[in-house]
Amino acid sequence: MQVPFFRPQLGEQEIDEVVATLRSGWLTSGARVKRFEREFAEAVGAPHAVALNSCTAALHLAVEALGLKPGQGVLLPTMTFAATAEVVRYLGAVPILVDCDPISLNMNLDDAARKLSADYADYTETGSRKQKAEGRRQKAEGRKQRAEGRGQKAEGGGRTADGGGKEAGAAEVVGIMPVHVGGMMMDVAAVKEFATKHSLWVVEDAAHAFPAAWKNCELRIADCGLAAQGAKGDGQGAKGDEQGAKVEGERAKGMGGQQRQGIGARKSAISNQQSAISNPVWQRCGEGTADVSCFSFYANKTITTGEGGMAATGDADLAARMRLMSLHGLSQDAWERYSGGSSWDYRIVAPGFKYNLTDIAAAIGIHQLARAEEMRQEREGVARSYLEALADCEQIELPPKGASVIHAWHLFAIKLRLERLTISRDQFIEELKKAGVGCSVHWRPLHLHPYYQETFGWRPEDFPVATKVWERLISLPIFPGMISEEIEYVAEMMRGICEAHRR
Ligand SMILES: Cc1ncc(COP(=O)(O)O)c(C=O)c1O
Repeated sequence: MQVPFFRPQLGEQEIDEVVATLRSGWLTSGARVKRFEREFAEAVGAPHAVALNSCTAALHLAVEALGLKPGQGVLLPTMTFAATAEVVRYLGAVPILVDCDPISLNMNLDDAARKLSADYADYTETGSRKQKAEGRRQKAEGRKQRAEGRGQKAEGGGRTADGGGKEAGAAEVVGIMPVHVGGMMMDVAAVKEFATKHSLWVVEDAAHAFPAAWKNCELRIADCGLAAQGAKGDGQGAKGDEQGAKVEGERAKGMGGQQRQGIGARKSAISNQQSAISNPVWQRCGEGTADVSCFSFYANKTITTGEGGMAATGDADLAARMRLMSLHGLSQDAWERYSGGSSWDYRIVAPGFKYNLTDIAAAIGIHQLARAEEMRQEREGVARSYLEALADCEQIELPPKGASVIHAWHLFAIKLRLERLTISRDQFIEELKKAGVGCSVHWRPLHLHPYYQETFGWRPEDFPVATKVWERLISLPIFPGMISEEIEYVAEMMRGICEAHRR
């Protein structure tokens, strides 16, 4: 039997809609993209959604709109895909890598606090030469020793070595980018608390997390971060939210001298979406869970448009900037120019990008979106079957179900207990391949890739958890439409390989 890692589930409705699009005469961004944006925004509970040709584009536009500048720092997990960090590099800023939780694989906020401390304060770009990275490492080592000598560690908001001014070369850390690995959401309240404490914006890499939610038992309008301090806290609807965003921007000027320039000159606007929160307990990913939430519709994601992405936000200004920059920085897009009686004319108001989604892709997305929860439940069913079938296999550590989340189950990542096996993870994958089972690894952590090692001098010991755990990871096939024979076959092969190579 052959079981692929992933098989997309595309129905007749997707096919018919694509054909209708092709016959319509309008192929690029138009009415179907507008509809997809509207319906997606509603599905996640976000006031604004901008459809794009990838999640990478969404992440890039989000950090651009927030005003990320060269040399500034952004905390993000080492356990992620290339995209999360590369968009920070696009703007000449510095990804400050953070270790992961050993169970969920999500970013560890304690380590994020450590990475803000004196030991790591100057992980700025060192140039792309190993030699420079080595010099930087030695300098960091010396500083660490000095700090230890003083018995001092700048925890809790200290990004400075001496509790005073920033060290020369230190990156000003302005943002954090949590990733909901595999579709299991992080503790959003903890991220928000961390971000508020350190004056950071939050851009959520939600590539895996649609549809997903987390149980925010504490969620109260009055508890929505900055909203509690004076912005709209009364749930006045979308208009009120937009006003709230403006108040937020104004108020940021007076807060700790952290005012940034341009559209990014605001504190976290997470709090501005509280009126969109339809249920006080279950908070959907994108429903005010970050300043901008970025979703992926890549071929194997929970819903697909072939390639595609969406940036969801509660902040009208951020949405407007992302929309503008998604299409060359033109004052009006082609659909506006040719459809609604607008002028043919446009103005280039910024050097933007070419990130718009096509109507052909949106045609697929509209119908995938309509079936999203149904497909999520099918994934959940596959996960349940694996959890049951492999429960007593002592060579395998199963992924957490997550008690307080609605899990998107984009991935089903097991961890091998290598001490109970005579083969490595890579050999295990070879065995699965021979058995006809497709699988993958999510991921080789960023700090173990040459670019990040050479540019920033990160060492494996800076990330003890990710460095060890990634060698044990295997992502098993999980997709809607996976038949029970396929699930049973994968579980049987897993058990067989464990049995044949048990220590
Ligand atoms: C965590 C994460 N972020 C971002 C992306 C990029 O998504 P896209 O391919 O839509 O740009 C991926 C893609 O797999 C991902 O896994």
